[in-house]
Amino acid sequence: MSKDNTQRAVFATKIGAVAATVGSAVGLGNIWRFPYETGVHGGGAFIACYIVFVLVLGVPLLCAEFMLGRGTRSNILGAFRHSSPSGRYWVGTGYMVIIASVMILWFYSVVAGWTLGYCYDSVTGVIAGMDTADIGEHFAEMTSGWRNVVLTLVFLTANAAVLLGGVTKGIERASNLLMPLLFVLLLVLCVNSLSLDGLKAGLTFLFRPDFSKITSEVLLGAMGQAFFSLSIGMGCMTVYASYFNKDSRLGRTAMSTALLDTMVAILAGVIIFPAVFTYGFSPEQGPALVFQVLPVVFGRMPGGMIWSSIFFLLLIVASLTSTVSLSEISISYFSEDLKMSRRKATLVSTAIVMAGATICALSFGPLGGIEIFGLSLFDALDFVTSNICLPLAGLAISLYVGWVVPKKFTKDQMTDGGAYPFAWYGLLMFVLRWVCPVAITLIFLNSIGLI
Ligand code: PHE
Repeated sequence: MSKDNTQRAVFATKIGAVAATVGSAVGLGNIWRFPYETGVHGGGAFIACYIVFVLVLGVPLLCAEFMLGRGTRSNILGAFRHSSPSGRYWVGTGYMVIIASVMILWFYSVVAGWTLGYCYDSVTGVIAGMDTADIGEHFAEMTSGWRNVVLTLVFLTANAAVLLGGVTKGIERASNLLMPLLFVLLLVLCVNSLSLDGLKAGLTFLFRPDFSKITSEVLLGAMGQAFFSLSIGMGCMTVYASYFNKDSRLGRTAMSTALLDTMVAILAGVIIFPAVFTYGFSPEQGPALVFQVLPVVFGRMPGGMIWSSIFFLLLIVASLTSTVSLSEISISYFSEDLKMSRRKATLVSTAIVMAGATICALSFGPLGGIEIFGLSLFDALDFVTSNICLPLAGLAISLYVGWVVPKKFTKDQMTDGGAYPFAWYGLLMFVLRWVCPVAITLIFLNSIGLI
């Protein structure tokens, strides 16, 4: 990537742009957060809402962010400033997402640190053969001490190293190679699920929605998960789209991103829930769920610790491609608006994230007493960013692109400057103008009890 903003880099190939976008979307959000949110919110009904939100809010907002990014070739603030004459009144949203991206990195890198720890524990055989109770203790021990902090900081150092390598070299190469591998491994684990006793119970939990379970909490949770998983409402996809080629066909890229991302999440569900019911876990354990269930699954497979080492290694890479995109939000702001060199911007951003992530990592141990609205620091950061900041930014982006940005701009973007027809343009604009803002507002009002 260039150091100044007069000559921005582009992803070298079209497939590379899609792979990097999918790399941002696919991460702990799919494999860690999706199963735990599904478990907490009762299964099938949550998933049904989630899928509706991906289609109705996710795909249109992905298109909106892509248009802003590629059309202005700038970071999230510039994307507002340069897309319409009154764009400067909307930059407040840009500042909010920059702050939210840092807050997400605070807790995300802690979970990525757990992944690192589990990879190490698989290679050394420490977690081999642990049963349901042992693994619970192991998880509690790992997360409650300084090991949690060290793992988090090691992960963030790796993140900084990728970022210093630059956009096309670092991100694209890693995504192209390792994302397909992760997908294959998930398929292997799904096949393994087929042989478990809890298969039927797990699949029923996942795919038989009990619509009477849809509460305001389920709706808010499913909406937050859709935003989090697709990396939308964060300016992330805006920044990435600013590296797209002229002929990237935004509509198609949005659809493929949403499809692949949802497939990975569903695969993760099919891996986790049959095992939950087979090995006597509770689906409602929250953030620890996947880290307790998976080692037991691997422990029962032939050659389990080898599979486990590879799996956690790939999960680290999937997390890295997401944290790199999250970091890119503040780094592009520091380097383009505050005129820092790319190197300095990366170091400043890493320092801020390391400081916050350390505190967050300690919230499982020494700082466990600190509560915000009855939630631990970790849970509060997760809730506020995913369920409030991302949908709020999504609301602003849909209103802005739907009502304020000139039609010529949006039409040009969706048709690659007239090179390809885009039959869904009218529907897309209708959804951005009306459906997204009304749906997000209603869900917010509903969740605070006003309707
Ligand atoms: N979508 C990523 C994941 O599922 C997380 C993320 C959220 C990345 C917001 C960028 C922006 O893991």
